[in-house]
Amino acid sequence: MICYAKSMTQKPVLVSAIKPTGDLHIGNYFGAMRQFVELAREGKYRPFIFVADYHALNSMQDADEMRRRTREIVMAYLAIGLDPAEVTFFKQSDVPAHTELCWIFDTITTMPYLMRAHAFKDAEAKNKEINVGTFNYPMLMAADILLYDAAIVPVGQDQKQHIEIARDIAEKFNRIFKEDIFSLPEPYIMPEVATVPGIDGQKMSKSYGNVIPLFASRDELAKRVMSVVTDSGGHPMSTAAVDIGCPPPKNVYAIHALVRSKEELETIYAEHAGNYKMLKELLIEDLDSYFASIRAKYDELKNDFSIVDDVLARGKQEARTLSEAKMERVRHAVGVV
Ligand code: TRP
Repeated sequence: MICYAKSMTQKPVLVSAIKPTGDLHIGNYFGAMRQFVELAREGKYRPFIFVADYHALNSMQDADEMRRRTREIVMAYLAIGLDPAEVTFFKQSDVPAHTELCWIFDTITTMPYLMRAHAFKDAEAKNKEINVGTFNYPMLMAADILLYDAAIVPVGQDQKQHIEIARDIAEKFNRIFKEDIFSLPEPYIMPEVATVPGIDGQKMSKSYGNVIPLFASRDELAKRVMSVVTDSGGHPMSTAAVDIGCPPPKNVYAIHALVRSKEELETIYAEHAGNYKMLKELLIEDLDSYFASIRAKYDELKNDFSIVDDVLARGKQEARTLSEAKMERVRHAVGVV
């Protein structure tokens, strides 16, 4: 057996991916994106982060939309501070090793095993027609992770089973081919720090149509904030604002609390008590200035595609080099070379 010792100074690898689906809103930002970028920035890990376009192809089958959303998600993460000098940031489809390794994993995985995956069972329970790519989703994801010897994989709670599947497949491969090729990743469940209320007081979510877009212009911000529900009851499903005991108008306050300290807000909401219009205007002002630099960076990227192209080209190169080295061992282990 060939032994590839890791140097002691090498940082543990972090692998994660983002599907280019959905328009980003400030709920995504405060709920997950910000923490994700901070984790990548901490310096404890060597991060590989990619846009999971081949995963998205299962549900997004429109070429223009794929191109546009892929670019948007890359620009969004760069705008909020993902540093391409410290992160290998790339597109999944730019690195053929992902799908190649997925195939090899397919050959050592049984259908009944994959039929136990939550995502598959949920779709089946809803009587949905499931394409083979969706059924096979966990295998491509296992390849994504194992190719780079990920030590940790930051994901939401809903993705935990996928990491367990990746661990299973790593062990199975190593056992069958009698070589210690893959190491076992650990999930890092991202805590959802803030539950961000939408303009109707329910959790902010694309599916409720209650979002404030992350890159909203000032006019758009104003429009959304002015339509925040302020009647005493709010939305019947409203919980977020009530839980933190906000002064009225509680839905306005709850959003405000994301960008201003509690002390500052106490003064402001006491001073303008009852003047909902004024409080909303202040919120517009604060959101506008909070996101000003992020928006400026986004606009800069939007006006010069070469920046994103360069980041992705570099990421592709780095990811290819590493994954190709791994694939050479894999191909040898299975006997195709
Ligand atoms: N399945 C993940 C999600 O829906 C996206 C993803 C694809 C991913 N490949 C990955 C996450 C590898 C972490 C590591 O969010």
